[in-house]
Amino acid sequence: MTAALTRQKIPWWAAGTLLLLPIWAITYVGTLERVTREATGVLAHGAEVYERRCSSCHGATGSGGSGHQLSDGEVLVTFPHIEDHVVWVVRGSDGFGVGNPYGDPARGRIVEGGMPAFGDVLTADELIGAILHERTRFGESDQDGLLAEALDHAIHLGDLDLSGYLDRANTTSASIAELFAGVADHPDTEMAAG
Ligand code: HEC
Repeated sequence: MTAALTRQKIPWWAAGTLLLLPIWAITYVGTLERVTREATGVLAHGAEVYERRCSSCHGATGSGGSGHQLSDGEVLVTFPHIEDHVVWVVRGSDGFGVGNPYGDPARGRIVEGGMPAFGDVLTADELIGAILHERTRFGESDQDGLLAEALDHAIHLGDLDLSGYLDRANTTSASIAELFAGVADHPDTEMAAG
């Protein structure tokens, strides 16, 4: 009897902990799942995309680097209208051509090169998400926050699918404006926005 007890490798108190382990594991995984589900939505996803694909040049907080500063509302000065912002990110510097103007004429930006084209790289969901992140987070644009909610709502209802790519040749300010207007006109949007 005494011999059997000394051979026991797991002390009694640790055995208790081991028994509780599966319960803890299930609770823990449950928590993870909940967090992941909450962190979906075009804006949350866009923050991740920005971090991965844009922050190396524009800074994690949008303060700029090899790419222009976007924070303190600078991004909205260049692109007062989101549709022009989308076209820029889809086509990049090469799509506009070095030496050509881009953005709001009052801003006076001329393409110098170095901004990659993301139309074939990011899905519409990722690309629009990163842009909404820039506009709401660095531009503090409430209007774009509402647009993000409206997009989430339309996606949730199955009325909008942004899983494809915005192709470089056919994406224009007008086509993007139309896409967003369709979402904003949605009969349920009032609810999502309010
Ligand atoms: C390799 C570096 C690089 C990466 C990565 C990059 N950019 Fe840029 N970005 C630039 C450069 C350089 C410019 C200026 C381009 C020019 O003059 O041709 C620019 C310009 C911009 C502008 C216009 C800013 C202004 O005020 O003129 C926006 C908006 C922008 N980028 C958004 C993005 C987004 C969104 C992403 C990620 C999806 C991104 N950029 C990734 C380098 C980068």
